[in-house]
Formats: sequence, C-alpha cells, structure tokens
Amino acid sequence: MTSAGAASERLLIRDLAQVATPAVGGAPARGAALRDVEVISDGFVLCENGRIAAVGAMRELPLLEEDRPGDDVEELDGRGLSAIPGLVDCHTHACFAGDRVGEFALRSAGATYEELHAAGGGILATVGATRAAAEPALAAAVARHREWMLQAGTTTFEAKSGYGLDRETELAQLRVIRDAGGVPTWLGAHAVPPEFAEEGSDTYLDFLLQDVLPEASRVAEAADVFVERGAFDVEQARRYLAACAEAGLALRLHGDQFTEMGAIQLAIELRAHSVDHLEATGKHGIEMLAASDVVGVLLPASALFLGRAMPPARELVDAGAAIALATDFNPGSAFCESLPLVCSLACTQLGLSPEEALVAVTVNPAHVLGRGAHKGRISPGFDADLVLLAAEDWRYLAYHLAGPVVDTVVVGGRIAWRSRA
Ligand code: NIG
Ligand code: FE
Repeated sequence: MTSAGAASERLLIRDLAQVATPAVGGAPARGAALRDVEVISDGFVLCENGRIAAVGAMRELPLLEEDRPGDDVEELDGRGLSAIPGLVDCHTHACFAGDRVGEFALRSAGATYEELHAAGGGILATVGATRAAAEPALAAAVARHREWMLQAGTTTFEAKSGYGLDRETELAQLRVIRDAGGVPTWLGAHAVPPEFAEEGSDTYLDFLLQDVLPEASRVAEAADVFVERGAFDVEQARRYLAACAEAGLALRLHGDQFTEMGAIQLAIELRAHSVDHLEATGKHGIEMLAASDVVGVLLPASALFLGRAMPPARELVDAGAAIALATDFNPGSAFCESLPLVCSLACTQLGLSPEEALVAVTVNPAHVLGRGAHKGRISPGFDADLVLLAAEDWRYLAYHLAGPVVDTVVVGGRIAWRSRA
C-alpha cells in the first residue's frame, strides 16, 4: 500500500463508544439487509492513505499495532463519540443562484408550489437567477452549499443541473458541480424554458439532445428528467433518457411527486439506477418497484417543506424494494441540506427504523451513484469517509431532531471539519 520512500498517512480514531456500519453492501440492500447494521462497542478505526485499513474493538488494537510498527500515526480521541460512514446525498439541486424566500413566505400564507410554478415562479424563477450568474458565482454557491452539507455529515454529494435550460448555463452547472467534487447529473429535462414556450416541449427536447447532450455527457455521470404534468410525459422522458443512455449516462427519474404518470414502469424498462420522490405512488407502483432492481429514492424533507403526503416508505420496504434517502436540497421544494434531519423524518414520519435510515443514507445511495464498492461502509479497503457523532449511541443520528449531532467529519482519511477547535 505504501510506495517506496513515502511514509504512509495514518489516522487512528480510538476509544470510540460505538462504530456502526451497514454490514453488507454488494448490492443495494433490501429486506432484512436494510436492517443489518453492525455495531462495535469500544472501538477504533484506522485510516491509511485515504482508505479504511482496519476497524475493530479496542482490545484488538495492540495486536494490530505490533503488526504495523514504524510509521507515525495521528491519533484522534473518540471518547464519548460514535462513528458511522460518511453520509451520501444522492439527490440534490445544490447548484443555483438566488433564493425563493419570497415564495416561501407566499406558500406559508396559502399559495401552493404548483400555483407558483404555473404563474412563472418556482423552478423558472431560479432559472432566471442562475442564468444571470457568472460561472465563478455559481462555483461559489456550490462551494457554500457543499460546506453546509459537510457540516451536516455529507461526504459525497450528487448535484443536478436543470436551472440553466440553455446550453451555456447547463454546461456551466455541470462543470462547477464536478469541480467542487460533486457527482454531476444532467437534468436538462427539468422544465420547458420561456424561449421554448411557444414551440413546445418536444422542440425543447430536440434542442437538448442535439445541442447539449454531446458535451453534457462528457461532464455528467447520469441524466435525470422531471416526469410530471406541466413538465415531461413518459413518451418524452423515454426519448430523452434513451438518448442519454446511448451517450453513456446512467439514468435517474423524478417520478410520482404529484401525479402517477408511469415513471416507475419507465425506470424499470430503461434499467434506471433510481426513481426519486414517489410521494404519489400507489399499491401497483410499490409492487412493481419492489420486484425490480431500481432504487426508490425518498425525499421526506421535500414532502415536509411542501406540506404534502409522505412517500409510502414502510410499504416499499416491506414489499422488498431497495430504498435510499436524500435531501433534494434546492431553493424551492426542500431548502434543507441535512441528512441527519432526513433520518429523523424517516424514523418519525416514514416508519423506518434507525438501522434502515442509516443504510439508506450510506451504502444504498452510494450504489445509486455507482460508488457502492468503495463508499458507504466502514470496512477495510473502503474510502476513509467518516462521521463522528457527538453521542455514545449512533442512533442519535436520527433521534436528536435537528440537534448538533455531528462532531467531526473525516474525508479520505483527513479531518475535514470539526464542530470544536
Ligand atoms: O425535486 N420537482 C422537481 N424539481 C425539484 C424542485 C426544484 C425547485 O423547486 O426548484 C424537486 O423537488
Ligand atoms: Fe429533486
């Protein structure tokens, strides 16, 4: 592991009250595997050159140290803390300019999200602000949002374009997301921009596929589409996603947020990595998704923020579906970057257990992002991305509603953030 002459970089986190990790992870966990969390009491984690080198109980440590003499080891005192894998947020819209605080106030007075959208606000309001921002300003916005996410324990994040809807701004969004270390998803098919209002959504899709996809597919890892009334229907989504798959992109869908339009069937047909939202999914959709390999990504902060029904998480899990949880962080429907808060909602509103919530914010979203082989578990060989929670019981992750649960965040074996000096 160590190249000749170079000392290895090691971080030993010792005397942790608990180390908790999803126990299995070769594929997205479902059923009993979703509840299979391994907990080591009085434990340690040894990181070496950015990877997990060893994890175990403190009583096993002397043996390990005999095996590995020599190199300097930075030590971190884990007393009073518990370690979990770094959190993976597989669904955000973290690249945007401006805000929608005015719309938030209007919604608090009774206006609905759909009404604001129909009146030219909503997504299109953020499109206006994002188009007006220069690329460095967009990069600064993503950096600020990434810092918020990091402080909440997110060590891997996905972010979508979709607030440009023109060639230049869509590509600028993808570049700044990639350059900030995020996983970029091309969401060209988010809404129809005003300049295509007359010609219509099919002509807009022609433009996306001809003029934007060739370059977008060089930067993005996946493509996403908003399947909804007033956005894109299933036929249009099929055309867009099939072309994106042809260009080498993984596929994602926003589906069943307000209306069941057949997004789940399409996700299964096209072997998408995920179908996200599902607040409106009924019995048939639950059964189909459960029988497939597509991961259902649930976004309870979005349902909460819009005051809408929660997705049928318990039914999905009990039917055997693989699920993940994400924030949907964006300025309109979920101004929330906190996966710990999402875990609290999962346990209080979705009927999931703390174990199911942990798996759904670590190894399962890592699979959605194609990173399940090396992110989302505390296991030798995995990336050394960790959250040290300020509690002796790791379940405080979900239990302490909006509390200061994150003590320290480790990314690639280095301390990236501490709550105290
Ligand atoms: O996932 N529903 C579509 N897109 C986003 C919201 C985007 C916005 O309101 O700016 C979502 O909720
Ligand atoms: Fe979204």
